[in-house]
Amino acid sequence: MLAIEKQYVQWHENETLRNARWLSESNQVPPARIVLVDDNTTADEAYRWACEGTSMLWCGDFHNARQLLQAITRRIERTEQRKISKAAKSGQPTAESLVIPNLFHQQRQAQAQRSRVLSRLLLALDAGYVSTLRRAPDVSAACTAAFGELDEPCLISFRDVQGALGAAQWRAKGVPITGLDVSIFPHYGVFAPTRHEYVQLMLDAPLPAAHDVALDIGTGTGLLAIILAQRGVKQVIATDLNPRALTCAKENFTALELTAVQLQQADLFPTAAPLANLVVCNPPWLPAKPSSPLEYAVYDANSAMLRGFVQGAKQHLAEQGEVWLILSDLAEHLQLRTREDLLGWFAEAGLAVKYRLDTEPKHGRSQDKTDPLFAARSAEITSLWCLVAQA
Ligand SMILES: C[S@@+](CC[C@H](N)C(=O)[O-])C[C@H]1O[C@@H](n2cnc3c(N)ncnc32)[C@H](O)[C@@H]1O
Repeated sequence: MLAIEKQYVQWHENETLRNARWLSESNQVPPARIVLVDDNTTADEAYRWACEGTSMLWCGDFHNARQLLQAITRRIERTEQRKISKAAKSGQPTAESLVIPNLFHQQRQAQAQRSRVLSRLLLALDAGYVSTLRRAPDVSAACTAAFGELDEPCLISFRDVQGALGAAQWRAKGVPITGLDVSIFPHYGVFAPTRHEYVQLMLDAPLPAAHDVALDIGTGTGLLAIILAQRGVKQVIATDLNPRALTCAKENFTALELTAVQLQQADLFPTAAPLANLVVCNPPWLPAKPSSPLEYAVYDANSAMLRGFVQGAKQHLAEQGEVWLILSDLAEHLQLRTREDLLGWFAEAGLAVKYRLDTEPKHGRSQDKTDPLFAARSAEITSLWCLVAQA
């Protein structure tokens, strides 16, 4: 892991020079220009500043900041809509811009731009993430859980604080998992299993006759490891690169009193693990560069994790062992990867397909006909590929 250098920001407030640590979960650079804004600032002014690249430090009522952010969001959406209508009137969209992978990249760029603009509304928090704004809730516990202890003042986007508050709620409430009699408690920055279709695949796939040892690669909240332990696998070794995932998975294992599961921080496979009867993985499913650490669970540049997993899995298999790869084919519908690529990687790795279980998505996005990528999203199938060493 890279050590992240601390960054500080200075600004003037009532003729006093202030200095605070810069925190940005989406890796935004520290602001070059800061203006002070409050309840008297209009949404149009704020939107203009944000689009120009000026950051705004909120000094008004805490709850009004949320309303301002919503008003800026509406303006971004209107601008995006106007661009689409203008392109349509001028004879565009061109054939090129309608090609599915281009639409996907345009959507990603628009999301990144939206995130940059919305991240320009800032909060200054005292040490321990304390806000002194009018009607400010206690954000300290949620921010400490999300971003770690901090004993100095910080400057952070309102959006990141909202993210921490939302994550704290998920963590307290938990996500009940359909088909399993458990709730999973996701942490900030850890893939939350809100789409459960693949859980049923993990429950339906017949366990190999011997199932003493399993590896769960990229465990996230620990969900797949929990399913395997509940299905009777005696020892599960789970890995993840993301330290937040390891803390989260540990908490979930402890809450369920699972002693059969061990955790290791590792790039893919654990070190010094016994050969496994089962090696499972639900990798990030879209081959695109993650734009922030929060996206590492979904986007996998050049399918590096997927290919690394497929390439290395056989080495970790005991005799008669099986690999279970959970993978959505959305990347294929978006023309970012082909089925032939995937089958070619299996063959190169010396793996043969024993069987495949499929499921269709039920989440809202796959039903949204206004999404330009609806055709791809509604055709998505998630599969459990059972792979074995080629004879
Ligand atoms: C789609 S999430 C799946 C999480 C969990 N297995 C589940 O099904 O809910 C992918 C996970 O892989 C992890 N990951 C990504 N690259 C990795 C790597 N090279 N080695 C280990 N874990 C990785 C991410 O941090 C994330 O937790």
